[in-house]
Amino acid sequence: MDFKRCDQTVAWTALAGHFEGHGRGLDLREAFARDPQRFEHLSLQAPEVFADLSKNLWDGATRRLLTELARECQLEARRDAMLAGAPINTTEGRAVLHTALRAPRGTAPFSDEVHGVLDRMLAFAEGVRDSATSGIRHVVNIGIGGSDLGPQMVVPALDAFAHPGITLHFVSNVDGHDITPVLRRLKPAETLFIIASKTFTTQETMANAAVARQWFLDQGGDEAAIAQHFVGATTNLKAAADFGIHTTFGFWDWVGGRYSLWSAIGLPIAIAVGADHFRALLDGAHAMDRHFATAPLAENLPVQLGLLDVWYRNFHRFSSRSVAPYHQGLKRLPAYLQQLEMESNGKQVDLDGTPLPFGTSPVVWGEPGTNGQHAYFQMLHQGTDVIPVEFIAVQHPTHPHADLHAKALANCLAQSQALMLGKTTETALAEKAPTASAALGKLTVARHRTFPGNRPSTTLLLETLTPRALGALIALYEHRVFTSGALWGINSFDQWGVELGKALAGDLLPRLASGDLEGLDGSTAGLLKRLRA
Ligand code: F6P
Repeated sequence: MDFKRCDQTVAWTALAGHFEGHGRGLDLREAFARDPQRFEHLSLQAPEVFADLSKNLWDGATRRLLTELARECQLEARRDAMLAGAPINTTEGRAVLHTALRAPRGTAPFSDEVHGVLDRMLAFAEGVRDSATSGIRHVVNIGIGGSDLGPQMVVPALDAFAHPGITLHFVSNVDGHDITPVLRRLKPAETLFIIASKTFTTQETMANAAVARQWFLDQGGDEAAIAQHFVGATTNLKAAADFGIHTTFGFWDWVGGRYSLWSAIGLPIAIAVGADHFRALLDGAHAMDRHFATAPLAENLPVQLGLLDVWYRNFHRFSSRSVAPYHQGLKRLPAYLQQLEMESNGKQVDLDGTPLPFGTSPVVWGEPGTNGQHAYFQMLHQGTDVIPVEFIAVQHPTHPHADLHAKALANCLAQSQALMLGKTTETALAEKAPTASAALGKLTVARHRTFPGNRPSTTLLLETLTPRALGALIALYEHRVFTSGALWGINSFDQWGVELGKALAGDLLPRLASGDLEGLDGSTAGLLKRLRA
């Protein structure tokens, strides 16, 4: 199928004109004054997630043109091709079917295989959770990238639903300072290691798995005990068996690493929260999949968010987006989204390999609120760059401290309000600034205390951070990334950009031992020499 790239459409040209006429100069404060229904007009409800899109630099006309852009780029046909299992990961000749991992039995491709592994994995997880019988108190997931970030993000997010007697540990970094403090606190008999790797060849994971194995043997374990205390989540069953692992949960090449938490890679999640909650996580994601598959483009939340991303990246030329979850359980969400969005859409050529004349993935970054407020929000409010912020708020906490929760929510609302409203120099002049130096003129102080405002933000609201709501939220992000990637005409499902560094590390590793500097650039040679001194 031949698809149009966003910049080859009529809507793109119309959007460029619209941006010059109405987009660049849109003032949010005036827009709200003009349209008292702006909140209602620019908010959307999707399964489990309500989105206030009204504090963004767009209006009904922008949305109509962006939606037309999606239509011209045949977004719906592209989406349907993905959902049907077409090999849309063209550079690797693979289907992209993470949605099949959360589809009810019998409703999506590979259903028998998917549900076979899922049932087996959840039964195993329940066995581990029965600590009185299993003896397991600690689970160590050894994996990196997509084989780490998903479970590492979800487990703390769902802490309120987690087994209180089992501690989950995540080891990813090849730097030995990651695994060493973890092993120091463990006893082999109480520990289960999950070696999580789609390929079972990733250097970091294999190196850490070897360290864990040796530690286990050094503590008096033997091969039989290793078979009991090490399990694998991988598509490479043979390599896992060669390692000495006999309990393996498989998945398939059509599950991308960064889309894999729904597969066997989710085993740490299943052990933490149990089979029913894991199924609820899948169910929430499936509900969002159905929304993405069936809601009209104009009311389709992942589509509208993806279109907003294109609007900001290619017309406003914003190069980053900050994520601020006002829920401490979501502390790893920004890191998870970094891989999801930047590894998917950080591409410079289209599907044909033609260099792109426009920007693609923004930098995605952030910290949970309110911590971020006391660190980098200064720059968001008064810095020279405009950075759209995405607030995530949860209506009902899963802790009993209502006063703390009210404060978190008030701060969340206040930040998006402050970004939008700003503060004029006149207002600042009329105020008394308690810590201002008396030696400075009033106007100078007021200028320092002026906020430009008109800074855009989105607020996503969940009722409670349940497994179902979290599943829906993650799937929302996956489909949003699909949307912008499809419009940009790129392959969002490969990651060739990580290969070069891997190959060079392979070349440098023996040189660190031998000191061979032959053919190296001056800087690398100089650094290597110092490291060997
Ligand atoms: O960094 C590249 C990458 O391939 C990611 O896409 C992937 O999630 C990660 O490495 C881990 O790969 P594996 O699961 O095969 O160990």
